[in-house]
Amino acid sequence: MPNPIYVLSGPNLNLLGVREPHIYGHDTLEDIRVRCETRAAGLGFEVVFRQSNHEGELIDWVQEAREAASALVINPAGYGHTSVALLDALKALKQPIVECHLSNPAAREDFRRSTYVSLAATGLVSGFGALSYELAVEAAAGMVRAAKTV
Ligand code: DQA
Repeated sequence: MPNPIYVLSGPNLNLLGVREPHIYGHDTLEDIRVRCETRAAGLGFEVVFRQSNHEGELIDWVQEAREAASALVINPAGYGHTSVALLDALKALKQPIVECHLSNPAAREDFRRSTYVSLAATGLVSGFGALSYELAVEAAAGMVRAAKTV
């Protein structure tokens, strides 16, 4: 079994299902965890799935992923638009990084149109609701598999 895919979610995503469901959908974060684990298992991976409202805790987990993950999926939520420190932590990773958003931030307010995280990400999945997470896990797994065959 390869190292797990880390799936990290940032602030306010613990409120999924009740927070602006017209934007973020009705799935809870627990629903999304199950979907990620199921999708990853089908691809031969385990998932470490965590959420925090605290920037430093997310950074600690990104640093942990340097040692323990085969790839990282991250929905940085609001910190994506603000956190240079999170970007710096991500830049220290050698593993593939998939940035993930439920909504399509590029189609929303101006301040959401770019993220610091994108400067470190291998790729980006956004706009598909909970499915964005599943697609991000699939992309991460595919990148890991591809790296092992070259
Ligand atoms: C989000 C988009 C961000 O702009 C926002 O701050 C979030 C959620 C998304 O998943 O669509 O909290 O990352």
